[in-house]
Amino acid sequence: MDAYLLDWLNLLLRWVHVITVIAWIGSSFYFVFLDNNLLKPNSPDLLEKGVDGAMWAVHGGGFYNPQKYMVAPKKIHTKLHWFYWESYSSWLSGFALFTVLYLWNASTYLIDKSLMDWSPAMAISAALGFLVAFWFVYDTVCRLFGFKKNGELIVAGLMLCVVAFASWLACQLFAGRAAFLLVGAMIATAMSANVFVWIIPGQRKVVAAMTSGEKYDAMALAIHGKRGKQRSVHNTYFTLPVIFAMLSNHYSFLYTHPQRWLILFVLMFAGALIRQFFVQRHGYHLGRAKNPWPFAAVGVALIVAVILAMAPWGSSSSAPANAQAKPATFAQVKSVIDQRCLSCHGAQVQMKNVRLDSLEGIQLNAQNVYQQVSVTKQMPMNNATGITQEERDTIASWYLAGAKLD
Ligand code: HEC
Repeated sequence: MDAYLLDWLNLLLRWVHVITVIAWIGSSFYFVFLDNNLLKPNSPDLLEKGVDGAMWAVHGGGFYNPQKYMVAPKKIHTKLHWFYWESYSSWLSGFALFTVLYLWNASTYLIDKSLMDWSPAMAISAALGFLVAFWFVYDTVCRLFGFKKNGELIVAGLMLCVVAFASWLACQLFAGRAAFLLVGAMIATAMSANVFVWIIPGQRKVVAAMTSGEKYDAMALAIHGKRGKQRSVHNTYFTLPVIFAMLSNHYSFLYTHPQRWLILFVLMFAGALIRQFFVQRHGYHLGRAKNPWPFAAVGVALIVAVILAMAPWGSSSSAPANAQAKPATFAQVKSVIDQRCLSCHGAQVQMKNVRLDSLEGIQLNAQNVYQQVSVTKQMPMNNATGITQEERDTIASWYLAGAKLD
């Protein structure tokens, strides 16, 4: 497809994806907050109706009084609102974006030949394998241990190991940026699968049994509520890690780092701890949860530790070595660009609509070229053309001396 149209498709899908995710995660945060703030009603009326908890809130010029029935009201209202399109549309738009960016252009974005020199078909299959395998492992762990004694701790411990291993493996196989995104996509896929495979079908069974008019076994139905709650609680702990993985792949100083898998994993873990802080805080003022602050403190401490561990202060490698020396000539720069860039930014192919096969093209993009090649080192993409550090320095010294075209 035309690179120009592909850029539009990418942008529009990203827009849709962020909107659907706001809708999903927004409602998911709201329900976690609501559940933790419900108070047992005193009124005999409400108790008799089956209301197990209620809260009062003021918002947008009116008062709200949501009530939660456990397990269900005596009669199910026919106009039930179901929450699932928020989740499904997040997954569908996210997967479409992943396809447009990483699968469509696998040889550019997914594959880093210095890590693993394989065909696009192989790399794509492996990436899709990550999504399927993670769901399979997570679901199995939940089924085996979820409802045992201390089950939730066992599930959490095992899943931390699985995510750490998957982060490590993804960073061995795929280009750094793709690896980060893939780890996020893999967890996000499990979140949507929780909704699709367990939560919604479980709720449908409960509603069907209760509206059928026939006698039903309440004990047998309770498992659907229990499992739905379990999976939706897991989803809440996945949210901050996933959002971190999705955003961090825009920061090359993270995904090009030699220890990138560890950075990704530690920051995701910090996100889960910080989410736990919010979950506990909702119930803390009602005396339902323990002090939430240790979770926030450890989460923030981990982030600070990563920032300090990665800090470039004291090492001289971050500044272009010979920026101060005699500036490189345009002829030197042109020779670097001709060799290292034109395969993707020339007459045939113009990635991101950047063309560097003319003086005007180089002039127009000079600042961006300097940023991409010398500062963030994102270009050449996955260093497909084998640029050297001296050549990066050549571009830096030319740009910093005024980017002259003669
Ligand atoms: C293997 C293909 C490939 C090579 C070689 C390559 N690029 Fe790129 N370039 C891309 C792709 C793909 C993008 C779009 C990146 C994105 O969307 O994040 C891009 C984007 C860019 C951008 C725009 C970045 C932005 O987000 O604004 C600049 C500038 C750029 N490249 C410069 C260069 C320079 C200079 C070289 C040579 C030193 C080079 N590229 C070599 C594939 C390549």
